[in-house]
Amino acid sequence: MNVAIYPGSFDPITYGHLDIVCRAAGVFDRLVVAVLVNTRKTPPLDGDSRTTVIRRAIEDELPDLADRIEVVSFDGLTVEAARRHGARFVVRGLRAVSDFETELQMAHFNRKLAPSVDTVFFMTALEYAYLSSSLVREIARFGGDVRGMVPAAVAEQLGRPSVG
Ligand code: PNS
Repeated sequence: MNVAIYPGSFDPITYGHLDIVCRAAGVFDRLVVAVLVNTRKTPPLDGDSRTTVIRRAIEDELPDLADRIEVVSFDGLTVEAARRHGARFVVRGLRAVSDFETELQMAHFNRKLAPSVDTVFFMTALEYAYLSSSLVREIARFGGDVRGMVPAAVAEQLGRPSVG
């Protein structure tokens, strides 16, 4: 069974992330969406809230895939989380060339730490290429409309209405 882990901050999860989840679930038998709980950061949504809302968003938006997708939180190294969950692949999304340098560096670090784990990149759909969690956070903080950027469950949690 090919298991992949998709690590990230998901603060919050956007339609761009969900697009990657969908693409990865089309390739791997099981996908573990792993939410980084960074003890040094104080995100608007804590680790548990992010995990719960991601689970809800996947059930709402990707019902046919939901039973092959697990949502967990983790602290520490991605490759350690991969090992715990039996994942041989790390999934990451690329929106633009600007993402590539950081992602390449992370992939090399992860390979150095765990040579048997491969990183697989999926290209985000063009309509989500402009999306970023930090901009969504900013828009929500100033009362802007996040419709079409994040799933309804996330918009609700951020305190903004969304029709998706
Ligand atoms: O959504 P993000 O913030 O781009 O995700 C970054 C993430 C969580 C994938 C990365 O920071 C990470 O893997 N953190 C865990 C610590 C780790 O394994 N570091 C070594 C890889 S560079």
